Amino acid sequence: MSTKITVIPGDGIGPDIVESAIQIMNKAGCDFEYEYVEAGLTALEKTGELLPQATLDAIERNGITLKGPLTTPVGEGFTSINVSLRKHFGLYANLRPVKSFKGTQARYDNIDIITVRENTEGMYSGLGQKVSDDGSEAEAMSKITRAGAERIVRFAYELAEREGRKKVTAVHKANILKSTSGLFLKVAREIGEEYPNIESAEMIVDAACMRLVMNPEDFDVIVTTNLFGDIVSDLCAGLVGGLGMAPGANIGENCAIFEAVHGSAPDIAGKNLANPSSVILASVQMLEYLGMSDKADKIVKALADVIESGDRTTRDLGGSHGTTDFTQAVIERL
Ligand code: NAI
Ligand code: MG
Repeated sequence: MSTKITVIPGDGIGPDIVESAIQIMNKAGCDFEYEYVEAGLTALEKTGELLPQATLDAIERNGITLKGPLTTPVGEGFTSINVSLRKHFGLYANLRPVKSFKGTQARYDNIDIITVRENTEGMYSGLGQKVSDDGSEAEAMSKITRAGAERIVRFAYELAEREGRKKVTAVHKANILKSTSGLFLKVAREIGEEYPNIESAEMIVDAACMRLVMNPEDFDVIVTTNLFGDIVSDLCAGLVGGLGMAPGANIGENCAIFEAVHGSAPDIAGKNLANPSSVILASVQMLEYLGMSDKADKIVKALADVIESGDRTTRDLGGSHGTTDFTQAVIERL
């Protein structure tokens, strides 16, 4: 029986780039059955809901989801759909790998870093949000639990072992945020000792940002809390040519959602201009998660060759072609 994957084409450029990734997986010999469901603006217009129950059911039933970017309407009281999904399915680990591809406009050509971001706690837990009546004071609460910190740090070390990586750097601000970041760092040190074959490092977040820009080759796996992970992972995307090249996975105990990290790009939607690379790379992450590394590697190789040779690349990669030509160029190499 073939594996069933939930597909959310998404809004804006979503349907085109997700279709590109699916055509490429099919060509690479992946025997999946795809169940298409809707979320975001597309769902709101049809069903009156951003995240219909049928979509939640399909995500839960199949366990694996490939998702295009979703538009959350601004200023209409809707919470971010991505945040809702993370909460609903307990997707505690956000994995953001970045790898250099020759032929992009990136500053470096030797980057291979994965950020493992805790996705449910810290500054983004949404706890204790208060603004005083006169609007002169605002506060919010950051919460770190030992269980949450252990789970994410262990995840990072297990990933490092599985992928044959050498080093895990815990990024923190324990010198100032003594309680929250302090607990995270304490746990990171403890867990690190359980993995003697992997080098454990720690770095204060601001210093880590500088070092990432100056000596990115010093980093391998980064593990960090929610807010720092959000910022550091985008910084890492910038090292390899921007969000167009950066995929992300949200992983929980029973459910995983793979996505491009950029948005729905309304400015170029429907114009066949979008670079599908980050959702293609998200599908590569999905294949690795499913233990299909051979197919994942084949796709990465084909994609890298298209980008390096400049054969039918999109505008953001310095080319003059569209999503469909780019996809065709990758398919021909498979
Ligand atoms: P965006 O990432 O959609 O676009 C920023 C800029 O990058 C635009 O100029 C866009 O044309 C360009 N761009 C993005 N992806 C591209 C691609 N694949 N190829 C070529 N160019 C690309 O960010 P923006 O404009 O801030 O957000 C638009 C909408 O997307 C908003 O409604 C936002 O809420 C949503 N969004 C959804 C995300 C998700 O579902 N994971 C993540 C970020 C934003
Ligand atoms: Mg972010």
